[in-house]
Order: sequence, then structure tokens, then C-alpha cells
Amino acid sequence: MNPLDAFRLDGRVAFVSGGGGAIGAALAEAMAAAGASIVAADLDEGRAGETAERVRAAGGQAISFGADITREADAERVVAGAIDRFGRLDIVVNAVGGGAGRVLFEAQDYPRDAWDWIMELNLRSTLIGTQAAARAMIRAGNGGRVINISSVRALLGINAGYSAYVAAKGAISSLTRQWATEWAKHGITVNAISPTFVDTPQVASLLADPEFTANLVNRVPLRRVGQTDDLVGAVIFFASDASSFVTGQILGIDGGLTATQ
Ligand SMILES: NC(=O)c1ccc[n+]([C@@H]2O[C@H](COP(=O)([O-])OP(=O)(O)OC[C@H]3O[C@@H](n4cnc5c(N)ncnc54)[C@H](OP(=O)(O)O)[C@@H]3O)[C@@H](O)[C@H]2O)c1
Repeated sequence: MNPLDAFRLDGRVAFVSGGGGAIGAALAEAMAAAGASIVAADLDEGRAGETAERVRAAGGQAISFGADITREADAERVVAGAIDRFGRLDIVVNAVGGGAGRVLFEAQDYPRDAWDWIMELNLRSTLIGTQAAARAMIRAGNGGRVINISSVRALLGINAGYSAYVAAKGAISSLTRQWATEWAKHGITVNAISPTFVDTPQVASLLADPEFTANLVNRVPLRRVGQTDDLVGAVIFFASDASSFVTGQILGIDGGLTATQ
């Protein structure tokens, strides 16, 4: 057998929450290229549809949903739609999140409304998307793959008003280990990627500041920020049979940043 065959996703069905976002769309298209059928769900129905359209234009299979993945009924509707169209669900990638740079407050005064918003966007979306997918995977009895998106901010403080974001990402890393432990008996593996800055619209205004980018890049041993393509290899690995004996792991995709701290 060709060892690269273990990385193929043919016949698998992947629910990408935030599938209209920069990272979610890139991961959906990459998994489709590896053979998976894609179910893209996003608050922005149009952008989820564009992702699905690009997958189909490249010869893959995809459907899309407008959905608020912090709401259980919406997440259940997407999972039911996936099973209705493709007959199964094998993979969930939780790519809803971010927002840190939009609500910067000193830690001692961090306001509750901003805290709740960041927690909803990052932590609750990951919880609700995963619960809906995991229930379907457990019912079907075929195992599955959960892939979360944490951040280097789960490990490293930052001299900016990021209290809620670091708490949310820290919780996502902890839940990755907890779910891995609980759901191993169902054959469901749970892993996370943990990127540093990825060049996406969410962080474009920060990266446009040459001083900010120079400071950032100088702390990264590989001397650059991430690109969405940098996340693809790890996600295909975690989604595929190549990672059958890997669960509860959080892989830094950070150019060596966390290795230096
Ligand atoms: N970009 C980075 O530098 C970086 C670094 C480390 C980790 N990450 C993480 O990677 C993930 C994806 O980031 P990204 O840069 O791809 O962000 P993005 O482009 O904003 O993608 C997130 C997508 O999720 C959608 N969304 C928001 N709330 C939702 C909800 N309740 N239900 C369904 N969809 C919802 C957003 O729609 P709207 O735009 O309409 O709100 C957007 O399309 C986040 O968890 C982020 O924290 C990013």
C-alpha cells in the first residue's frame, strides 16, 4: 500500500463550521481535494455557498448552510442536512472564532459584554458544533474526527487586552484533551491546531502596520506569519487514517514561536 493513501479522505463527509471564513474555506477546499464531501456552514450563508461552489467547480461534492453554530438547533439542522445529503458524517472542523483585536480592554476592567461575545464566538461555537457532530458520530458507530482551532494565545500571554480570547482558546485546548479522553471509546479522535497569526482578513489591519509585523516576525524563528495553506497538512493528517493513533494533541503551527518561549 502507498503510505500516502492513509491521508486520503475519499468517502468521508466533513462539516466545516465557519466554512465561509478565511481559514474554514481553505480547509474545506483542501479536504475536498483530498476526497471528502464538504458541508460548509456559516453565519454568512452567501460565503458558505461560495465555498461550496468552489469545491464543486474543482470537481468535489459540497453543500452549504446559513447557520448560527452557537445555537443548538442550527447545528443540529446542519448535521441532519449532512446525513440527509451524504448519508454520514465523519469529520467536524470548528473554524468559527476570532474577534480578539476588536475588543481590547485592560484585564482589570474587561467588560462582561465583550467577554460573553468572545466566549460565544470561540468557545460556544466549538462546543455546540462538536456536540451536534459527536452525537451523530456516536449514533452511527463509525468513529469520527473532531478538529478544533486553538491558538498560540492558549499558551502565551500578550501585552494587549486579550483576556477573553486567551481564556476561550485555553478552554478549547482543554476541551480537546477532555473530549479525546471521553470519546476514545467511540473511536472519535479529537485534536487541535494552534496557529500564530495567519494572514487573513481578520488580522489584516494589524499586519498592515509594518512595526507590528516586524515585531511579530522577529519573534518567530521561521521569520514570517502563517498562511492558510500552512494549516492544511495538519488538518488533513488529523482528519485522515494517518492519525488513527493520535488523539488529544494540540499542534502548534507557529513557525517555532512557542518553542522559543
Ligand atoms: N487569523 C488568524 O490569525 C488566526 C490565528 C489563530 C487562530 N485563528 C482562529 O482560526 C479560526 C478562524 O479564523 P479566521 O481568520 O478564518 O476568521 P474568519 O475569516 O472571521 O472566519 C470565521 C467565520 O465564522 C463565521 N461565524 C462567526 N460567528 C458564527 C456563528 N455563530 N455561526 C457560524 N458562523 C459564524 C464568520 O462569519 P461573519 O464574518 O459573518 O461573522 C466567518 O465567516 C478562529 O477560531 C480564529 O480564532 C485565527
